[in-house]
Amino acid sequence: MVRETMNNFWSNMSTKITQSINVLRSVQMETLLTYTSVSLCGPLFVKFGISGKDLHKREKPVLPEAMGLVAGVILCLFIRQPSVLLCTMAGLWIGALDDIIDLRWRYKIIGSALAYLPLYQNLTTVVIFGRLIYLGPLYHVYMLLWCIWCGNAINIHAGINGLEVGQTIVMALGLLPIVDDTATLLSYICVAMGLFALNYYPSMVFVGDSWCYMSGMFFVSMAQHETETLAFFMLPQIVNTLLSLPELTGYCECPRHRMPKYDAENDVLVASGKGTLMNIVLKITGPIHEKKLMWILLAIQVVCVFIGYTFKS
Ligand code: UD1
Ligand code: MG
Repeated sequence: MVRETMNNFWSNMSTKITQSINVLRSVQMETLLTYTSVSLCGPLFVKFGISGKDLHKREKPVLPEAMGLVAGVILCLFIRQPSVLLCTMAGLWIGALDDIIDLRWRYKIIGSALAYLPLYQNLTTVVIFGRLIYLGPLYHVYMLLWCIWCGNAINIHAGINGLEVGQTIVMALGLLPIVDDTATLLSYICVAMGLFALNYYPSMVFVGDSWCYMSGMFFVSMAQHETETLAFFMLPQIVNTLLSLPELTGYCECPRHRMPKYDAENDVLVASGKGTLMNIVLKITGPIHEKKLMWILLAIQVVCVFIGYTFKS
């Protein structure tokens, strides 16, 4: 009897050890590197005043901002193509400057346009709904608009824990079967996962504009020849941009934050009446918890990835 119990114990133990080793093997170096570096740099950033208040919590804790800068530097170590590297670095610069000195819109637009230079190719056509469309020199205008819009669109679909980095993980996973350079994309996903672990509710860090602008440039450079599919993946960001236009163009008042209101008594988020997709979702669902809202928004993003696949095939 005792012998049988001991045998069972050892066989269970060896299964657990094998399972743990497999999990450890599958955790990529990029994820661990990002998680550790962000955890270590966070307090330093707070010390230098690069921090922000988590507005959807009762105690409004002060958290390190701009952690996308740390994650972005790590990602750059793993990018293989020079054009993608230059473009991503440009996005990281614009975002980091915005995090630190609140860059003016005009400089962000000029910077994003300059970031197109490494991507310049002598192309004139795009594929839209399976049809080859001749754009001529307008092709470059089309790509410039992508460079300017993509990072900004990610940055304004934000304001709740986990959403900024979560949406980019879904988009990157969606791009996996589509782009040629799978290794670089996997590195991006692993870095993003390390950051997500710390930005997930309740956040320990904020990813900042550096993560949003860098990711925008990274996606445009990785999916330069697949922008129509990327547009489907980014349908939530397209809808959010359209909803935001009256406020962004100054037609309606645009406050510093357009995020939902926080009901501290019930610890839920309530629609704030500003033109965002998040507020539309909250209007439909009624007040819900921050974590639940993030998962709903990510689920919408996943659906859009599958819509993108349907139109591609
Ligand atoms: C964009 C949005 C703004 C939104 C903000 C939230 C537009 C035009 N701008 O501004 O409406 O409120 O993003 O990121 O749409 N924060 C939280 N919880 C989070 C994430 C952020 O409380 O989960 C707060 C923190 O105070 C943090 C700040 O938002 O410090 C970061 O805002 P920032 O990224 O600088 O705002 P913008 O990108 O300028
Ligand atoms: Mg931002």
